[in-house]
Amino acid sequence: MAEFNVNLPYFDGLLEKIREGDAEVIEAFGFHVHWGYWGNPAAADGSIADFARAAEELSRRVCDAAKLKDGMRILEVGCGFGGNLASLCDRFSNLELVGLNIDDRQLARARELVQPRNNNKVEFVCADACEIPFADSSFDAVIAVECIFHFPSRERFFKEAQRVLKSPGSLALSDFVPQAWTLPFIQLTEPLFQSSVSEVFGTVNGDFTLANYRNLARETGFFSRLEEDITINTIPTYPAIRSLQRKRGLKEEERISFLTELAGRLGLIRYMILSFDKA
Ligand SMILES: C[S@@+](CC[C@H](N)C(=O)[O-])C[C@H]1O[C@@H](n2cnc3c(N)ncnc32)[C@H](O)[C@@H]1O
Repeated sequence: MAEFNVNLPYFDGLLEKIREGDAEVIEAFGFHVHWGYWGNPAAADGSIADFARAAEELSRRVCDAAKLKDGMRILEVGCGFGGNLASLCDRFSNLELVGLNIDDRQLARARELVQPRNNNKVEFVCADACEIPFADSSFDAVIAVECIFHFPSRERFFKEAQRVLKSPGSLALSDFVPQAWTLPFIQLTEPLFQSSVSEVFGTVNGDFTLANYRNLARETGFFSRLEEDITINTIPTYPAIRSLQRKRGLKEEERISFLTELAGRLGLIRYMILSFDKA
């Protein structure tokens, strides 16, 4: 297995806080580890409970983009602590779910948290999303919630998703997608924040534009079906998580959160849900 982003620094921190029983961190990130979605961002109240509800809502929207139905066999890559799989177990029945993650420590927590209710089956596998250890045409859908930017290669992941998907089959993901015109600016300012981003978040490849996704989909045999810009609906994530970071003295995290919020508000980087059908 590729030794790439296995133990991400922010997961080291989360696992430590979870071990210590930090109730706020557990509520915010002990289950879903991604941003939130607010249908009405103006109504966000900044609380951790509100953020946790919004994180569940984002999970549902990405999964819905894969057109899931009862009885399907579904692979979630980068499944983290299993929050998305637990949500699927509440909403559907007779699913065969596989959670794949590169960090066994996260899978240990996911195995404890995910209860396969409603006649659903769940299994977990420790692997790299770019080397999926399953047979060709073995899944109806592949889901990747806010994790693709950590993978060693989006191209290899798309090829693997194409290989393991049945036809028809769907791939749905969420990602931070920069506007093409911002790339020179991002590359110019990268030295100012790149080392602190990797200290906190590990390797993050944040330069993949929507045009890159469209080309990649075409080259790997997918049709782009959905390109939804939900940046504005995710913005209340930032003040909510900054209040957590401030209380715990995580100054660098706070600074990165502030800059990412600014990039979102200025339209430099969009938070998008994308889905693709196997051609
Ligand atoms: C921001 S977290 C998202 C977790 C989960 N998708 C969720 O929504 O709660 C990113 C996840 O990607 C996983 N990851 C990073 N590189 C990976 C890889 N090459 N293969 C599989 N998972 C990977 C990390 O371990 C982490 O669980």
